Amino acid sequence: MSSFSEKFVQIIQEHDLSIFLAFFSIVGAFVAVTKALSFWKLLFDLYLRPGKSLKQFGADTGAWAVITGASDGIGKEFACQLAAAKFNVLLISRTELKLQNLSNDIESKYQVESKTYAMDFAKGDKKDYENLKEIIGKLNVGVLINNVATNHEIPTPFILETDEVINNIVEVNVAGFLRITKIVLPRMISSNRGLIINVGSFSGMVPTPYLSVYSASKAFMSTFSAALGTELNSKGIVVENVNLYFVVSAMSKIRKSSWLVPQPKPCVKSILSKIGVSGGASNVPYSSCVYPSHALANWLITNTFNQSFWVNNGLSINEDIRKRALRKREREAAASKAQ
Ligand SMILES: NC(=O)c1ccc[n+]([C@@H]2O[C@H](COP(=O)([O-])OP(=O)(O)OC[C@H]3O[C@@H](n4cnc5c(N)ncnc54)[C@H](OP(=O)(O)O)[C@@H]3O)[C@@H](O)[C@H]2O)c1
Repeated sequence: MSSFSEKFVQIIQEHDLSIFLAFFSIVGAFVAVTKALSFWKLLFDLYLRPGKSLKQFGADTGAWAVITGASDGIGKEFACQLAAAKFNVLLISRTELKLQNLSNDIESKYQVESKTYAMDFAKGDKKDYENLKEIIGKLNVGVLINNVATNHEIPTPFILETDEVINNIVEVNVAGFLRITKIVLPRMISSNRGLIINVGSFSGMVPTPYLSVYSASKAFMSTFSAALGTELNSKGIVVENVNLYFVVSAMSKIRKSSWLVPQPKPCVKSILSKIGVSGGASNVPYSSCVYPSHALANWLITNTFNQSFWVNNGLSINEDIRKRALRKREREAAASKAQ
């Protein structure tokens, strides 16, 4: 037995045991009450607490929302819902045709102005950022949605990942995200008003083996949001890292929604109706998680087992997904060879 354990047993033998029992009961009760209060706060946030009004950020006053990765999935839904709330929208992603079609739909459906800019964030082309600076400099921007991101194609051990995928993730999810934020901020600061939503992921909260670079890029986003949010708090600018679990989209490769995996529409609706409400992510400053099933999952992850448990759990899930993805690749290769 270690000297510490021996000393502990000796103390118990020498003293009245009831003192220790009382001490541990008080600690236990304190922990239970803290968890219960935190769960009630979660329910209050999700079902009773209203978010900040979008009017605070310029809705229906001719202000603009800039949305990256706007032509599909979650970004497209942000563009439509912000246009419905009467923001003009600047839509940015790679495919000009998809952007044009969305722009036409938005203008005819919501009677707002829209602009498009096609660029590949992975290229990190200086010219694109100079062009964007010029375009955005002329707009009264009230909202920025940092949504664009790229991911590993399938779960892959870091050592086996290609340099191209690693560079793309860093260029899009980290460098591009910082550059756009820096371009948009001066106008927000001078007008003392702004909302910056950074679309984050559970992967940023729980380190995710086999998606290591993506996971780290989302952790970067969460940390940066907390630091920037604190810097800008007194300037009327709200920064929010929005924590998401799976959502139906091309990136998640999930096509069917379920209780835990919503379509982008209800997910974005809950985010825009709960600005400033932390929900299941109340342990991280300037982060939120307000889609109910995601918020509950976020709360459980942070209030039950320790992080090593969830990291190891992620490892076994991704090992399994990788095996299935590799088998699928083999089948597809064999089928195309046979043709
Ligand atoms: N879906 C999920 O389960 C999930 C979970 C957690 C977090 N998220 C986060 O949610 C955000 C949106 O994801 P999503 O699922 O909606 O993805 P998605 O459906 O694949 O849409 C991605 C959008 O980004 C654009 N895009 C992709 N790469 C680009 C690049 N290099 N340069 C410019 N534009 C690019 C795409 O349009 P083009 O192809 O035309 O460029 C598309 O508009 C991401 O930040 C992601 O990390 C998603």
